[in-house]
Amino acid sequence: MAFTVAIDGPAAAGKGTISKAVAAHFGFAHLDTGLLYRAVGAQVLAGGDPVTVARALNPADLEHDNLRTPAVAQAASEVAVIADVRSALVDFQRKFAARDGGAVLDGRDIGTVICPDAQAKLFITASAECRAERRYKELTGKGLSITLAQVLEDVKARDARDSSRATAPLIAAADAALIDTSDLSIAAAVARAVAAVEAAQIRVG
Ligand code: CDP
Ligand code: CDP
Repeated sequence: MAFTVAIDGPAAAGKGTISKAVAAHFGFAHLDTGLLYRAVGAQVLAGGDPVTVARALNPADLEHDNLRTPAVAQAASEVAVIADVRSALVDFQRKFAARDGGAVLDGRDIGTVICPDAQAKLFITASAECRAERRYKELTGKGLSITLAQVLEDVKARDARDSSRATAPLIAAADAALIDTSDLSIAAAVARAVAAVEAAQIRVG
């Protein structure tokens, strides 16, 4: 039977880290849906048309190693505003969610739009300063030359665009368990997420 875990939240809140750990704990498959928008954003930066690129996207496009740059993150959030881009990506995400054996999907609109009937929903958040600090460490750790102030500005710009768009804005589903990771270690955040999924498993029976 399908069991879907929907994980949403703003940039660098810890969604990916928590999703991977939850998927490993329960033996579920994991899809980072941000990669879909990043892959479209990267191809648009290279001159492609957003809707054409989104309609032609294939899983191999998600494997490129240039998708984690700040420029691609901004481009992703710009193409993510376009309703036809979003609708081109829906089927792939819903098919993934419906697979046998369980699936974890993380993004912005999983619990609200892509999988409103998900058995477990989590909304992961943290203060913008905390998220910027974490992303800054990641990017400078990879050798990127960027300031903390720039990363904070990028994160805030993306949050604002993601939250204010007309189609599928970033918002916690009414039935999502909220986890603020600002003052949590990764292990503590993962433990809360696992407990929330276990509670959902018991509810579902
Ligand atoms: O997927 P998302 O952008 O929401 O965040 P992430 O890539 O999972 O996490 C961003 C960074 O925050 C990573 O370097 C994580 O190791 C770190 N993190 C943390 O320091 N504390 C947590 N409770 C969760 C994540
Ligand atoms: O890892 P991080 O949270 O920084 O970003 P991401 O999850 O890779 O998402 C990049 C961008 O894609 C976001 O800022 C959103 O604009 C968009 N996105 C979306 O609109 N819907 C999703 N389900 C996932 C990502």
